[in-house]
Formats: sequence, C-alpha cells, structure tokens
Amino acid sequence: MITAPPVPAGTVEVTGLSYSYPPTHTGGEPVAALNDISFRAEPGQIVGITGTSGAGKSTLCLALNGIVPRRTGGAFRGRVAIGGRDTRQYEIAVMATRVAMVFQQPESNLVGLSVAADVAFGPENLGVSPSEIAARVTWALDRVGMAGYRDAAPARLSGGQQQRVAIAAALAMQPAVLVLDEPTAALDPLGAEEVLGVLGSLAASRETTIILASQDADALAGHADWLIVLDGGQVIASGTPPDVYAGNTLIQLQSRGIAVSAMAELSATLNARVNQSFAFQTVEDAHRDLAAALSQA
Ligand SMILES: Nc1ncnc2c1ncn2[C@@H]1O[C@H](COP(=O)(O)OP(=O)(O)OP(=O)(O)O)[C@@H](O)[C@H]1O
Ligand SMILES: [Mg+2]
Repeated sequence: MITAPPVPAGTVEVTGLSYSYPPTHTGGEPVAALNDISFRAEPGQIVGITGTSGAGKSTLCLALNGIVPRRTGGAFRGRVAIGGRDTRQYEIAVMATRVAMVFQQPESNLVGLSVAADVAFGPENLGVSPSEIAARVTWALDRVGMAGYRDAAPARLSGGQQQRVAIAAALAMQPAVLVLDEPTAALDPLGAEEVLGVLGSLAASRETTIILASQDADALAGHADWLIVLDGGQVIASGTPPDVYAGNTLIQLQSRGIAVSAMAELSATLNARVNQSFAFQTVEDAHRDLAAALSQA
C-alpha cells in the first residue's frame, strides 16, 4: 500500500472553511462568520490575518484548534488540519498539544499567582514531568525577555510584559503552531512594540508557525510572510505584504476601510506624484529607497 508522507506538525491547512454561529436568540438566524476560506501555512511561516472588526479573524483563529465548532456549535463545513490532524477528529485537548493561543486581553491569558506558575500551567496540564517543566519555564521566559520576572505577580506587570508572559506560557507547551489574536490591540505603543519584538525574533527563528490576527498593518507588513485579508467572512485578498499593500489591492482595501501599512500608503502617494515605483513596506525600506532615489536625483 502507498501511504502519503506525514504532514509536518507545523503545517496549517484550511480548505473550504465556512462557518455560522448558532442563532444568538431563540427563533433567530444563524450568524454567518466565515465563507469558503482556504489557505495553507508551511512550518515556520508567519501568516497575518487582517480585516475590519467583524470580518471573522477571531472565528478563524478559534477554528484552528477546534474551539470553533466544538465549543461554539453552529454549522461548519470544510476542513481545518494542523500537521495533518483534522480538528473534527481530534479533541481540543489533543489539538492543544500542537496549537497554542494568545488572546487580545493580556489578563485573560494569565491565571496564576506568579509568572513562573503561569508559564508552567500549560505543560502541567499536558502531563509534562516537573524537571522538564522547570526547563521549559526558564527557556520560554528567556525567549520573551522576561527571565528576570519569574516570581513577579502577573497582575503587577505592564500590559506588554503580561502579553510576553502569555506568549511564554504558549511557547512552554512547545506548540508547532502559535495563534495570536490581536495580541497588541489592548496595549500602549511601548507594550505593542515589546510584543512585536518578541514575535519578530520568533518569526526569525522559524521554530514555530505563527498565525497573527491583527489590524496593525505596519506590524503585518514588517513581519508576515503571507497575508490573508478577510471582509465579511471572505478572503478578499491574499499574498505577500508587498503584493497586498500595493496597486489596485491597496486601493480596494482602503475603499473598504481596511487598515493598510502607512509606508505602503506613502509609496502609493509618491508614485502617483513623482512618477516613481516605490514599494516600501517598512520605515527602513523607505529610508533606504528614498536615500537611493535622492542620490540619483
Ligand atoms: N459567539 C458568537 N455568537 C454569534 N455570533 C458571533 C459570535 N462571535 C462572533 N460572532 C459574529 O461572527 C462574525 C465574525 O466575528 P469575529 O469576532 O470573528 O470577527 P473579528 O474579525 O475577530 O472582529 P474584531 O476585529 O472585532 O475582533 C461577526 O459577525 C460577529 O458578530
Ligand atoms: Mg476578533
């Protein structure tokens, strides 16, 4: 018999996913949230999911570990698989060994009395041995730059620090896939910067597939390998950030009120005014390309 090669643990496959929540009141209509979504993330990639409020970002995140539809009910069609494990066939607890989640509100990610207890919580629930848990806590806190805060009370940390601890708690489960649902949306700019720094270093290490739902177009442009733009539960654009935040796609996103990267907007404005073909994604790109253009002028 010929068997298909095993799918790497960090592969995310979403195929023809449509989902409606059950009616919110008796006699109401189901609430359509996702419509025929397909994408694939390869191990170590960072895939951004963006779109306006209500576009379906959180629902898609929750579908990746099976919370949608296992906890939410409703009507589900299509297939979601992580490393070949179909969420319809594996319990949430089993999926949790592959997929870890970080949510928007830092405090909702934290449960323990100390930072170390919070980071240990996930592996404890997975039945990991105490010595291995201790090693993972040290490693994960180091990974997010919070090694000096092991014994701190999570409630006393800044939002950015709390979110870094939440990421450490997720990493301590050694997930193949890390899903972050608007992890910086509730933070001040400094906290957001801290968390994006951690995500940048995780992305660079390519150890974990990262799915990042965000309306922070600049962060997505700076970090994502691939972007999926949702509107009304549908994918209306997908591609690399330079493809999505440029040309007609950029105009289409702007017309739908979807955040685009500030540098992409600047490139488009300059291209229209001075007949150039800039395609900045980041401030660094802009510095480099503008300096080069000016030196030729
Ligand atoms: N528990 C629920 N029951 C019923 N409908 C829901 C539920 N959660 C979300 N919805 C609806 O599903 C759709 C998608 O919502 P979702 O929360 O996934 O969007 P989002 O892109 O994450 O928005 P936001 O940027 O506000 O977080 C919306 O129409 C929303 O009202
Ligand atoms: Mg959301």
